[in-house]
Amino acid sequence: MAFADGAMQPNVLVVDDELEIGRFFEAFLAEEKGCRVTVANTGRDAREELQRQAFDLALLDLKLPDANGIELLREIKQVSPRCQVIIMTGFSTVKSAVEAVKLGACDYVNKPFDELEELEETLDHALAAAGRGGGRRNEIVQLAANSNIVLGVDSPMQPILEVARRIANKDITVLLSGATGTGKECVARFIHSCSRRSEKPFITVNCGAFTETLLASQLFGHEKGAFTGAAGAHRGIFELADGGTLFLDEIGEASPANQVKLLRVLETREFRRVGGELPIRVDVRVISATNVDLMEAVEKGAFRKDLFYRLDVVSLSLPPLRDRTADIEALMRHFVDKSLPPREKGSVQFSPGARAALLGYHWPGNVRELANVIAGMMALREGPQLETAVLPGKIAGGEHGRGTGDDPWQGSSPEQGLEALSHRWGEIFFQRLLSGKGGGGLGGVVETLKQLENRVAIDLIQRTLERTGGDREAAAELLRVKPRILRYYLRERGR
Ligand SMILES: Nc1ncnc2c1ncn2[C@@H]1O[C@H](COP(=O)(O)OP(=O)(O)OP(=O)(O)O)[C@@H](O)[C@H]1O
Ligand SMILES: [Mg+2]
Repeated sequence: MAFADGAMQPNVLVVDDELEIGRFFEAFLAEEKGCRVTVANTGRDAREELQRQAFDLALLDLKLPDANGIELLREIKQVSPRCQVIIMTGFSTVKSAVEAVKLGACDYVNKPFDELEELEETLDHALAAAGRGGGRRNEIVQLAANSNIVLGVDSPMQPILEVARRIANKDITVLLSGATGTGKECVARFIHSCSRRSEKPFITVNCGAFTETLLASQLFGHEKGAFTGAAGAHRGIFELADGGTLFLDEIGEASPANQVKLLRVLETREFRRVGGELPIRVDVRVISATNVDLMEAVEKGAFRKDLFYRLDVVSLSLPPLRDRTADIEALMRHFVDKSLPPREKGSVQFSPGARAALLGYHWPGNVRELANVIAGMMALREGPQLETAVLPGKIAGGEHGRGTGDDPWQGSSPEQGLEALSHRWGEIFFQRLLSGKGGGGLGGVVETLKQLENRVAIDLIQRTLERTGGDREAAAELLRVKPRILRYYLRERGR
């Protein structure tokens, strides 16, 4: 390890107007961690020290009498970008602490320091990172890959996931916004898997999918005889998610009554089963997602303001895929390889024309649409190169495919993709057959269709497995087939 100016000892700056805090860190960091420590009690002192020496770590109070902590953070990052900064904050300013993390602080700690172990862990992490000369390059890319999230070089998703990772262990609520298919659920799972809750359940609730009466019993459970048909007691989602993460998807669609119920449990962390007497306490981390502008919904009176502020402690907004060119390229490759058996990965390439068309398309359905398009292209390909001929018309047509008129995909939502896709397959086969390029005539087409059937089945199975978190029995039930059928298809792929 080497620290600022090649020293063997980390140089730490503590900025806090509470003298006691300064004294505590001075002793603790020097004696326990072998650091050199400088304490500044005002913003002015801190600025002077920053001119005088280079620091590896700064512990920064956000509320100083003569300076704005966020401003100071910016200055530290400017004069020494490699300096790790830990924000110290009272509970009331968690939101500004999160802002600081977005601006490059590596972590924040709550004052007073009740959890000394946690504080020490945070300090150890920051000192280790300082010794490496900042964060590990590509560390976040690797972590994301462990959660099946693919990132291109310098992807705008990278800083978002960096923040997601830093707040993963904080238990604060996170609101993810972004258009359909941008990866909100992926990011929610990523936060869960980076947190100490990762061994506990991650449970998704689609807030729009419940009727008002169903929601209470789904979320909170009910006691035997609570209502007609409640033959036995039933644990609700909040109980099932205890210790883990609850993902409230499409929160903007929760009905007004359901919004009240959610607010109550988020405020008190307590609820009663329907028909139950005893309050139940749970330890659940809540992440919610929306593809509508919730702030706008609040202004229109369609969404409760108090619930919005409860949910929006950390807000992460995912950019549309068209603004992530490097991601498009990486994801194209990823989805191609994903559909190939292990030995054949890397063997299929894009023709320059197809590549350019895919990179230039505006991707209204974002990553989900891209995955569907590549699956379709792979099913239609006739060799190791993916040509423009197998592009859907909306993409091959250029200029966002507008004006091609006869494109069967036009106007289809990503959810309808499969149906539209099969329609298009039909057209393409028909044209090929008539133009004499159909391989072995009708027999050849039927043979190809059989292969297609396999691919579609496998694709559906995989998507269902994603939805059930890998639970095969649940997937088989959803698909209304015997688990044996699932095994048959998956084994065929060499799994
Ligand atoms: N960066 C990524 N790398 C790999 N796969 C991704 C990435 N982002 C999204 N996906 C995949 O794209 C699909 C859509 O992602 P996800 O379900 O997370 O989107 P969403 O924002 O929740 O969409 P919606 O608003 O429609 O629910 C999923 O199959 C997901 O695995
Ligand atoms: Mg989703």
